[in-house]
Amino acid sequence: MQRDIFLIGASQTKFGELWGKSLRDLAEEAVGKAIADASCLPTAIDAVIVANMLAETANNQAHLGAMVSSLLPHRPPALRVEAACASGSVAVHTACALLESGRAQTILVLGLEKMTDIPGETIACALMGAADAEEDQPSGLTFPGIFGLIANRYMHEHYLTRDELNLVSATHHLNAAENPYAHFQNPIDPEDVEKSPIVADPLHVLDCSPVSDGAAACILSTHTASQVRLAASQLAHDTLSITKRPSITSFRATKDAAKKAYAEAGVTTKDISHIEHHDCFSIAAVINLEDLGFAEKGKGIEWYKNSTTHYSLLTTHSLNSSGGLKSCGHPVGATGVKQIIEIGKKLKEEKTQWGLAHNFGGACATCCVTILENTAVSP
Ligand code: COA
Repeated sequence: MQRDIFLIGASQTKFGELWGKSLRDLAEEAVGKAIADASCLPTAIDAVIVANMLAETANNQAHLGAMVSSLLPHRPPALRVEAACASGSVAVHTACALLESGRAQTILVLGLEKMTDIPGETIACALMGAADAEEDQPSGLTFPGIFGLIANRYMHEHYLTRDELNLVSATHHLNAAENPYAHFQNPIDPEDVEKSPIVADPLHVLDCSPVSDGAAACILSTHTASQVRLAASQLAHDTLSITKRPSITSFRATKDAAKKAYAEAGVTTKDISHIEHHDCFSIAAVINLEDLGFAEKGKGIEWYKNSTTHYSLLTTHSLNSSGGLKSCGHPVGATGVKQIIEIGKKLKEEKTQWGLAHNFGGACATCCVTILENTAVSP
């Protein structure tokens, strides 16, 4: 970062099926709570960035920058960022660029998605806009289908068993039980995962993140300091279609973004105490931990199997403490912002120094890795 960028305010709405709330209601709630959390005047915000993927299809609403700007009395300049499920973190990345350039000093980033007002099939088709329209869509694939292929291949290459994979969602559901904003707060047993209805072999309903409504907001500033600063925000890409990649059991964009982010923050994986990673499907969780450098290839599942080895190292360590996408929910534009504010919260609660948020779009064709530092903790 070319300047110190501080996280001065954060908020999220409940994630879930929020039929009683409109897109604007969710925006208003998250924006109002973030401004209150930052203890700043609304007029201190000199730009707004809205992250959203599907509002035209799901809510018949485009032009979200103006919609959110007009919630503030002085109507600051606003823009919308779309990068599929990575929209939230890419919006934060965009905010960092504006703040680093000096174009703005305090920016409100709002991640927003309202997905449950239209039929599930329509949402599944719309989400496929994040895949390749020529290579992937004509076959009728959906994202559960794409990650089903990835899971089958991974299980073949690395002997991952169904029993082991069950542990991922069970862990994330357990974490979400303590998060009042989570879509699902019910703990589940590992065997419940494979007993739930099959969606795309070998993935069952409980291997999948849900279709959710929700919003999350953060206020970033170079003008006002706070305990938590953004130490790195790095973006990387891969082909939209998995058919164009040499391997589907590792995501190059995660590796590239993580490598650049560790260098920018001047840290290694050993320094990181809190991770929020993009578990859109259970198999993605396993792959993410390997690509981020927290596990050797084929060993990502050890984090979930062997909580005593890794987590006991880590009385101060957390992995998807929000419940992840699986259980906190996945209103796609809001997810990346939620991950970043969750890391900020954990750093303050646990008095730890470093945390990492990993957010991707599509089958990891866009990946953004954000590293946050609690400046109140001495090395
Ligand atoms: N985890 C746990 N429970 C879930 C769930 C999930 N992922 N998805 C749905 N449910 C629950 C619902 O809450 C509902 O419970 P209820 O009967 O107690 O109210 C029940 O299952 C049926 O819900 P419904 O919406 O009819 O499910 P569905 O079969 O239409 O959809 C999925 C299930 C898994 C297909 C859907 O959640 C999905 O497509 N997820 C993936 C979303 C996606 O691709 N995101 C982008 C990632 S890259």
